[in-house]
Amino acid sequence: MDQPLGNDRTATARAHSNIALIKYWGKRDAALNIPAVGSISLTLDALSTDTRVTFRSGLEQDEFWLVGTRADATRASHLLDIVRDSSGVGSRAVVESTNNFPTAAGLASSASGFAALAVAASAAAGLSLDDRELSILARRGSGSAARSLFGGIVELYAGTRDDGLDSFAEPVLPPETWPLTVVVAITELGQKSVNSTAGMGGSALTSPFYPAWVDTGKDDLAAMRLAIANRDFEQLGELAEYSCLKLHGLMMSTRPALLYWNAATMAAIHAVYELRASGIPVYFTIDAGPQLKALCLPEHAGTVADALGQVAGVQETRISTLGHGAQLLP
Ligand code: ADP
Ligand code: DP6
Repeated sequence: MDQPLGNDRTATARAHSNIALIKYWGKRDAALNIPAVGSISLTLDALSTDTRVTFRSGLEQDEFWLVGTRADATRASHLLDIVRDSSGVGSRAVVESTNNFPTAAGLASSASGFAALAVAASAAAGLSLDDRELSILARRGSGSAARSLFGGIVELYAGTRDDGLDSFAEPVLPPETWPLTVVVAITELGQKSVNSTAGMGGSALTSPFYPAWVDTGKDDLAAMRLAIANRDFEQLGELAEYSCLKLHGLMMSTRPALLYWNAATMAAIHAVYELRASGIPVYFTIDAGPQLKALCLPEHAGTVADALGQVAGVQETRISTLGHGAQLLP
C-alpha cells in the first residue's frame, strides 16, 4: 500500500560482488532474464555495493544516483516496477548507490548492484520475501545478481519452468567452510564497450559454438559440485580455467567478436601459469572484461598478489576472501 504524501519509505542494503567459477552466458528467456545455463560462483568480500532506496510520493520518475552522479535509471526502474507491482507501492523512488570498485568493467557491478537493489527495494516497499524470492527478484535485474544474495560458494539454477520460478540461487558452502582466496588484478579502470547483456545476446545469435556451450554446461556444473564436495582445490581451479577459456572462445567466435582481454590480461594469464609451474597452486578466471581473478589458498595470496602486481599494465591488485550474503543495513 502506498504511503501518504511526504512520507518516505526507505531501506539500505549491502551486497558483495561475485566471480563465477562455472560461467553463465546466454538466456533461455530474455524478458524474464532466465539463464540458459546454470552457474557456480564465489562471493567476494572485498568488492561491495551499498544501496539506499527511498520511495517518495510526488516524484515524477525514478532517480538513480551512482557514486553521487545521476545515471541512467532504466535497468533499476525495471526492477523497481516488479517491486511496485507486487507491493502495491505506487511511488517512484530515489536509488542512491556506491560500488567500492570500478563499475561496468568486468568486476560484476551488476551482480552486487542488483542484489543490493533487490534487498533494499523490497524492504522499503514493505515486502517480506524469503531468500528464494529475493534471489529471483535480483535475477530479474541481472542473472549474476541472483548469486550475490548468498555468501561463500553459490549455485544459480537455470531451471526449466517458463515462468522462471525454478531459476534461483542457493548457497553451496558457507564462507567459513573453505578459506579460498581471490586476487583481483585490475588492468583497466574504464567501462567495457559491450556490456554482458548485449554480449551474450550476440553470442546466442551468431556464434556456431553457442549450442555446444549450452549442451556442455551441465557436465561442468556436475564436475564443479564434485570438486567442491571433495574440497579438491586443484580440480576446482582446473574446471574454473576451463569454463573461463570456453566462455572466451565463445565470445571470440561471436560476430562482431567480443574480445574483452587487453595485453595485460594475457600477460597476467602467463604469470599465473608461471606461478603454477613454480609449485604454487593458483588458477585464473576472467569475466566479460579485462580483469583477471586468481584463485588461490590464503597462504599464497601475498605471493600471487606481488607477482600479478608486477605484470606490465596491472594497475591495482585486491585480495579478497569469501564474502557473506546480501543484508539490510541499519
Ligand atoms: P559488470 O562487469 O560491472 O557487471 P555489466 O555491463 O554486466 O558490467 O553491468 C554494468 C551495469 O550494471 C551498469 O551499466 C548498471 O546498469 C548496472 N549497475 C552497476 N552498478 C550498479 C549499482 N550499484 N546499482 C544498480 N545497478 C548497477
Ligand atoms: C561473464 O549477470 O551481468 O560475468 O543477466 O544480462 O545482467 P545479465 O548478465 P550478467 O552476466 C554475467 C556474465 C559473466 C559470467 C557470470 O557471472 O556467470
